[in-house]
Amino acid sequence: MFHIESVFDDSQKYYDSLERELMGLIEGEKNLIANLANISSWIYHAYPELNWSGFYLWDESDQELVLGPFQGKPACIRIKATRGVCGAAYSKGETVRVDDVHAFPGHIACDAASLSELVVPLKKNGKVYGVLDLDSPKTHRFSANAEREFTRIMNKISEKIF
Ligand code: SME
Repeated sequence: MFHIESVFDDSQKYYDSLERELMGLIEGEKNLIANLANISSWIYHAYPELNWSGFYLWDESDQELVLGPFQGKPACIRIKATRGVCGAAYSKGETVRVDDVHAFPGHIACDAASLSELVVPLKKNGKVYGVLDLDSPKTHRFSANAEREFTRIMNKISEKIF
């Protein structure tokens, strides 16, 4: 039913087709969990060298991030806004790229295999609803270009799904 077209090369063309594929995936569907589940799966399969791809959503009543749909090994369920790479991206409302997680103070090791990480906030109208977390078993997996492009794509997706 779904065919992942893009072959990864960190180019604008790759990110443009990833964007098209992800927008197509959520087209016409308003259920948040279903959309996040499919997005996490698509990225996990379309973007090489990931060991985890998924979401943490801000829980207003508990005032912390709670694990959402993902691909990869089971992960930490709750993350305070003051903790980890996810908490940093959520509280700043900005993407955080970590080339080597061992050099990031407070990094939360859910899977010991993760060596680099990219965490992108899910923002709409200035409000942060949660984060997309991508983990790689390679250090320096995410380029400055990847940081910029995933931020752009997730802004567009967030406008649509929240
Ligand atoms: N490493 C993250 C925690 C989430 S797991 O990697 C899935 C962090 O430091 O926030």
